[in-house]
Amino acid sequence: MGERTVVVVGGTSGIGLEIARDCVARGERVVITGRDAARTTEIAVGLGPSVQGVALDISEPSTIRAQLAGVGEVHGLVLAAIERDANSIRDYDIERAIRLVTLKLVGYAETVHTLLDRLEPSVATGIVLFGGRAKDLPYPGSTTVSSINGGVTGMVNTLALELAPIRVNAIHPGIVGDSPFWASKPEGVLKAYEDHTPGGALATMADVVDATQFLLRNQGVSAVNLCVDRGTAVI
Ligand SMILES: NC(=O)c1ccc[n+]([C@@H]2O[C@H](COP(=O)([O-])OP(=O)(O)OC[C@H]3O[C@@H](n4cnc5c(N)ncnc54)[C@H](OP(=O)(O)O)[C@@H]3O)[C@@H](O)[C@H]2O)c1
Repeated sequence: MGERTVVVVGGTSGIGLEIARDCVARGERVVITGRDAARTTEIAVGLGPSVQGVALDISEPSTIRAQLAGVGEVHGLVLAAIERDANSIRDYDIERAIRLVTLKLVGYAETVHTLLDRLEPSVATGIVLFGGRAKDLPYPGSTTVSSINGGVTGMVNTLALELAPIRVNAIHPGIVGDSPFWASKPEGVLKAYEDHTPGGALATMADVVDATQFLLRNQGVSAVNLCVDRGTAVI
């Protein structure tokens, strides 16, 4: 197989950035996306010469096709983008809800749709969508996040059926303690979550990167919704 290209949507920060870094270390070409063109390019340059930065806002799905026009053949696609959101059903913010539902459930789907003519129709081609354990382990303010992460499960099932031999899987991380969003929380916030894992520790970004690479590459695996949470569900 020749050189592979992996596109990481939401590759400027957190888990997506670590996945991009890992793909570079494997000798692959990488396209990272973020909302701001200059910032995304700067981060791409910092990752190395095999990385291209593309500006993309998937909460505006009708703009995705034009923004991705310059992307060539793709062998791996990771959809990791998220806008941080706190919403509850008692104090429901419709605008925020519509924005985040659109980002994940329409934006992820439209990105796959747009790149279909560039995704090699082969079992070696993998797509990984990011959901999260909030789908079945809600926390205060996770109303929209829990809903869209549940939606990712359904999306994986239908895309895997429709796009075979291309493989489509999802990662559902638990709280990832060393990700920028959670690592920046005040001291003590993570303790409650750590106490809900059997080993008293949270999954790391490295754990999630490793799981993503497995789903991208293992040719026997499709339509899997993989939880990476150090066993949070079992206690
Ligand atoms: N961290 C966790 O503990 C955790 C737990 C469960 C699930 N997850 C899931 O894992 C994925 C990665 O999470 P993370 O914590 O690593 O994220 P993060 O650090 O907050 O990074 C989010 C990424 O999404 C991009 N982004 C934000 N809004 C966007 C938009 N409208 N259109 C396109 N890109 C956009 C950001 O780029 P710019 O800011 O440069 O635009 C950034 O690259 C997410 O899907 C999240 O739901 C994370």
